[in-house]
Amino acid sequence: MTSKGACIVTGASQGIGRATAIALAAKREYSSIVLVSRNLEKLEETKALAGNPDNMFALPFDLEELEGIPAMVSSVVRDHGDIDLLVNVSGYADPKPLFETDAHSLEKTFRVNVFALTLMCREVAKNMRGHRCGKIINIASTAGSTPRPGWISYSSSKAAVISISQTLTAELAEYGVKVYCVSPGRCATDLRRKLAPEEDPAIIMQPEQVAEIIDNLSGDTGNALDGQDIVVRCQPRL
Ligand SMILES: NC(=O)c1ccc[n+]([C@@H]2O[C@H](COP(=O)([O-])OP(=O)(O)OC[C@H]3O[C@@H](n4cnc5c(N)ncnc54)[C@H](OP(=O)(O)O)[C@@H]3O)[C@@H](O)[C@H]2O)c1
Repeated sequence: MTSKGACIVTGASQGIGRATAIALAAKREYSSIVLVSRNLEKLEETKALAGNPDNMFALPFDLEELEGIPAMVSSVVRDHGDIDLLVNVSGYADPKPLFETDAHSLEKTFRVNVFALTLMCREVAKNMRGHRCGKIINIASTAGSTPRPGWISYSSSKAAVISISQTLTAELAEYGVKVYCVSPGRCATDLRRKLAPEEDPAIIMQPEQVAEIIDNLSGDTGNALDGQDIVVRCQPRL
């Protein structure tokens, strides 16, 4: 039986976002699970992999379209009711050293990883403060807290996500909204392949392992946590 309102998972077309949506669907706690990313076909694939539950909905949207975010979130509230959980997973990486980094790369990375994430938090928190309940889980990265020479735009954008999450933890507490920051280490996805093309994906953390932590934070386990940067990392299997 569902006991909670709607939830939104961005980046649900593949990787960590897809695994998260599938884990959340298995518990059948949310009245609706709204899957957001650009690729409708892959969002539908996520739904099929979750067993085509009747409470899962694909909502194709390009998070680079910052001005469209308020209307997109409003449409979720209109169609699915109050939002109890937002998981901001969508992310973009363009790993380049400083001397090869240009304005376009910096702008795109920050637009997806920082600006869209912040506006998603703002719009969803406006709804959550109305019913004084809700959780926001932001996916940062270990690259945000430890040096990554050659990844200047990505790692600095993830440092911003850690800071934004800590700030919003304090700012939104009075409205009954809890904010979490999850920082995965290397995890076998397309994004990781871009960052480390030579690495064997079979020996590193799998998306389902990160999804399990996110799923736990969304439940009662998460009630005793918030704010801190939660690092999720496995030793490579050699
Ligand atoms: N894999 C790792 O080692 C690792 C480590 C630390 C943190 N992370 C973080 O984990 C998150 C998930 O990444 P992943 O590893 O699962 O990579 P992934 O498989 O490449 O997934 C990236 C997701 O972001 C979505 N996305 C990208 N640009 C978007 C846009 N403009 N609008 C809407 N959605 C967009 C993609 O969907 P569409 O293409 O369908 O739009 C896709 O679902 C990211 O924030 C990443 O930085 C990953």
